[in-house]
Amino acid sequence: ESGVALVKSGVLTTCTHLPYAPFQSKDDSGKVVGFDVALIDLVAAKLSVKQEIVDTPFEGIKSGADLNSGKCDVAAAGMTITDERKKVIDFSDPYFDATQALATQTGKEVKTLEELAGKRLGVQGGTTGEEYINAQVKQKGLKVEVVSYRDLAALQQALATNQVAAAVNDLPVWNEYIKANPGKAVVAAGFDTGEQYGFAVKKGNTELLKSVNEALASARSDGTYDKIYKEWIGE
Ligand code: ARG
Repeated sequence: ESGVALVKSGVLTTCTHLPYAPFQSKDDSGKVVGFDVALIDLVAAKLSVKQEIVDTPFEGIKSGADLNSGKCDVAAAGMTITDERKKVIDFSDPYFDATQALATQTGKEVKTLEELAGKRLGVQGGTTGEEYINAQVKQKGLKVEVVSYRDLAALQQALATNQVAAAVNDLPVWNEYIKANPGKAVVAAGFDTGEQYGFAVKKGNTELLKSVNEALASARSDGTYDKIYKEWIGE
């Protein structure tokens, strides 16, 4: 297969921003695993190369800096396809549907953003969740203090230690957190933002993008996608 020629160095390098379970996180042995990793493994197999994960801040991924500089061949970061991002990177076909959700500690539920007046609301820097909340605050003149955290771990830590009254992130990420920390937090409200995740390549890398889309399409048609979905997301 000429696939090897599509990637820089005989390996398919994947930029992601850890942790973001169930899409990408380290297992007990320190290996990076998850839904995105399993899908990109299929692309690597198709190209007859191995996948190598590069953990890097989300900002550099979504801005195109990492793909354009050649730091990575592909980005896989539970990343939502947006028009703004499409200007700087090329997205694969959508591979996952997501919405935003508001999590609180158990027993401290709020149903609306209005109820957070005078309180702190945590978001993850550079994400669609942050953008959504900032837009809502502006549009509705909400009196909530939005606090931005550099990664998901810091955001979840802030929620667990009462630094924020609530926190917003993608729904599947909260579901995973609640599964891992039973009884500690709940999804108190949802915002139907209708997002879709895409993998990304450097703008104009149509050949690699084609391989990504082909790997996705065969996974969907031969049942592999469903198997991976069940393993990482659930029923
Ligand atoms: N889906 C959201 C977005 O695209 C959050 C992605 C964050 N991903 C990560 N690996 N930290 O903005």
